[in-house]
Amino acid sequence: MYLLIPAAGSGKRMGADRNKLLLQVSSKTLIAWTLLAAEAASAISWIGIISQPHDWDDFKEIMADLKLSKPVEFIPGGSTRQESVYNGLLALPEAAEQVLIHDGARCLATPDLLNACAAAIRHCPGLIAAIPVKDTIKVVDENGIIESTPNREQLWAAQTPQGFDVKLLKECHAEGVRQGWEVTDDAALFERCGIEVRIVPGEETNLKVTTPQDLAIAEFILSDR
Ligand code: C5P
Repeated sequence: MYLLIPAAGSGKRMGADRNKLLLQVSSKTLIAWTLLAAEAASAISWIGIISQPHDWDDFKEIMADLKLSKPVEFIPGGSTRQESVYNGLLALPEAAEQVLIHDGARCLATPDLLNACAAAIRHCPGLIAAIPVKDTIKVVDENGIIESTPNREQLWAAQTPQGFDVKLLKECHAEGVRQGWEVTDDAALFERCGIEVRIVPGEETNLKVTTPQDLAIAEFILSDR
């Protein structure tokens, strides 16, 4: 299975002076933890890291220490995650029929979750790892006034890995460019194109490391691994 890792963010919300994936958590960088999960997931046979060229030297140094056995390609990132993933899709080897996309910032996802998604994507056009939300979610207007409270039974928090048929996802990204859609995950492009996306049970610990608080939580979870 081909795996694309979007890793071209800036670390703005982290308040960091560099790509947050280069920050240390529990004695390794975030991207190192993500790559180690990909290395340990037996279903993954090829890894594409989508990242800004100015980070490539740092990433290569980290990878040299990890001694990965799987082929890794570097693909230039875009100015949004959406653009970065599209670059990644266009850089996939011709043989790629399905792909998993897994955010570099989700460095706590387990190899088991990657393997489960890789197995499931062989039987459907699109899927995402997700977990039921625990909080009651409010839709709020620009004045801070609640508009509605969606039924929690139907609400799931989207994670990555997300898996897709490569040809369909390329078409959905192209349509997204034509229509000017701005989305924060790839499943949203499938949804807008009317293609079914299935849920695979995600992991409570699979958080997206975004803020300094998340780093502290990640440190705690990784101290047990
Ligand atoms: O910023 P956020 O954490 O939501 O980004 C999710 C993932 O997308 C991260 O792994 C980040 O590195 C990646 N990203 C990207 N290209 C961008 C922005 C974010 O690959 N331009």
